[in-house]
Amino acid sequence: MTAQIINGKELVQSIREEIKQDVQSMANQGKQPGLAVVLVGDDPASAVYVRNKAKACEEVGIYSEVHKLPAETSESELLTMIGQLNKDDRIHGILVQLPLPKHIHEETVIDSISVHKDVDCFHPVNVGNLMVGKDGLLPCTPSGVIQILKRLEIPVAGKHAVVIGRSNIVGKPMAMLLLRENATVTVCHSRTKDLTEITKQADILVAAIGRAKMIKKEHVKDGAVVIDVGMNRDEAGKLCGDVDLEDVRDTASYVTPVPGCVGPMTITMLLQNTLQAARQTGSYVSAE
Ligand code: GUN
Repeated sequence: MTAQIINGKELVQSIREEIKQDVQSMANQGKQPGLAVVLVGDDPASAVYVRNKAKACEEVGIYSEVHKLPAETSESELLTMIGQLNKDDRIHGILVQLPLPKHIHEETVIDSISVHKDVDCFHPVNVGNLMVGKDGLLPCTPSGVIQILKRLEIPVAGKHAVVIGRSNIVGKPMAMLLLRENATVTVCHSRTKDLTEITKQADILVAAIGRAKMIKKEHVKDGAVVIDVGMNRDEAGKLCGDVDLEDVRDTASYVTPVPGCVGPMTITMLLQNTLQAARQTGSYVSAE
């Protein structure tokens, strides 16, 4: 079998076009969704992600503001800023870029973001809603993966989905969303015994490990759908995923490339969440 390399750009473009039209019809009523992105410190990778998020907002007509704070910012200063953004009627989504400097408690910061503006879906209330199946904001990377599967009409119900990774950002919510789509879900992690034995059973394999090109053909069942959430650098410093695409392409039926699929889809889901958050609040300001 030769895998179809999923064309992320095409998928992303069509969804962003839909969002742009929805933002436009909101603008016709004098309303504009707004996103605030907060970046603490000067991690270069984070700076790139933040820039891409702001650019994507502009592309679809979402108002955005980026707050860059120095690495020495205290936790209370950051909490004060989030408090202001929570009250700001122009802002419907707040994203604090992770990781934060070591002296700031991630959990305290996440808990301080208004549940209604939590476009990352990191707040425990939103995580709880996701767990019990209530409607609400969905975590961007996992919901992007579900979008990819849906748009390509890849069946999920009754399939065995194996997620490698158990982070709060990807692995755990990914398992929840796949379960919601009626997959049979297995979560693997660094302490899993006989990883290959398990991944080889997957109809859908989601790699969110954080290790360059770790997934090879021996991990993949013939005809499996392989979704690569990894974002790593190879020996040459080139961006690459958790999956060795060249190695698995004769085994998998579909595989997502890195860069150019899950990453831009994640940002697209952030735009979608900001739009949804704006729809769910009564207060807007004029688009002017
Ligand atoms: N850092 C890496 N991924 C993410 C993400 O999805 N959201 C935020 N806020 N920070 C991140």
